[in-house]
Amino acid sequence: MQLFKSKTGLIAHVNKQKQADFSVGFVPTMGALHEGHLSLVKAALATNNCVVVSIFVNPTQFNNPDDLNKYPRTLDKDIQLLETLSKQSIVVYAPEIKDVYGPKIASDCFDFEGLELEMEGRSRPGHFDGVGTIVKRLFEIVNPDNAYFGEKDFQQLQIIKKMVAITKLPVNIIGCPIEREPNGLAMSSRNTRLTPLEQHESALIYKTLKLVNQKFKKESVQAIYRWVDTQFSANPLFELEYFQISEIETLTTIEQNNSNKTYRAFIAVFVRDVRLIDNIDLN
Ligand code: PAJ
Repeated sequence: MQLFKSKTGLIAHVNKQKQADFSVGFVPTMGALHEGHLSLVKAALATNNCVVVSIFVNPTQFNNPDDLNKYPRTLDKDIQLLETLSKQSIVVYAPEIKDVYGPKIASDCFDFEGLELEMEGRSRPGHFDGVGTIVKRLFEIVNPDNAYFGEKDFQQLQIIKKMVAITKLPVNIIGCPIEREPNGLAMSSRNTRLTPLEQHESALIYKTLKLVNQKFKKESVQAIYRWVDTQFSANPLFELEYFQISEIETLTTIEQNNSNKTYRAFIAVFVRDVRLIDNIDLN
């Protein structure tokens, strides 16, 4: 598998693919790959001749320097995992910070029309400017036809779509379903920080979301908010940070169900100091 540490080599490789009329798929990641990431790569391999996977722990999207330093970096293992999917069609771009940012490590400021102010944006100020900045730069370097993002980070997916609409970059954004553990827990590199008991108990998150999906058809939104609160306050292992039902275009919280719109339920829960997020389609 080809590994590019600098954009010059990667750009030359992509140009060659494009000259051969090959389509280029792109999966941006921060590494520590698991089956959730691999599902995006599989989706990209299904419709593109060449797939670029970037592995880059982006400093500007971290609010807390400690989180950035502690973020797992497992490049060799990541490459081995990708090689189980394809040695020929996948290339990895794993740059140093200055290859992407130059001398100034800073975010651009975006107006995502309020999407950035909801949920993850509320608890992580500046996070989505960092995500927008890195994804835009990576799109400019990789120049993909299609780029793949997980619905696990649904707010991020909507923000990337908005960024592409604003900047008019010529790339299709494709959302991919959430990959889960057998007990329903959404796959995440953070799950490895949970004890076996905590992993087992964390099945409650998706179990709750599935019941919310059923309740949404017959109960008031207010009753559902109250019920979710009691689910988590009854269990000392969890601290609920937010639960909200939102219309997917604006991501604003709704107070009642208007049947013409498309809704999702979003949740963030602490298990000790491990913050887990998940979401579910309600339509
Ligand atoms: P990272 O957390 O590494 O995730 C990379 C991609 O994998 C994202 O699109 C994310 O939604 C997707 N993903 C993670 N877990 C998943 C799961 N269980 N099922 C399906 N998809 C899953 O998200 C980022 O990196 C960064 O913000 C990035 C976009 C790379 C910009 O730095």
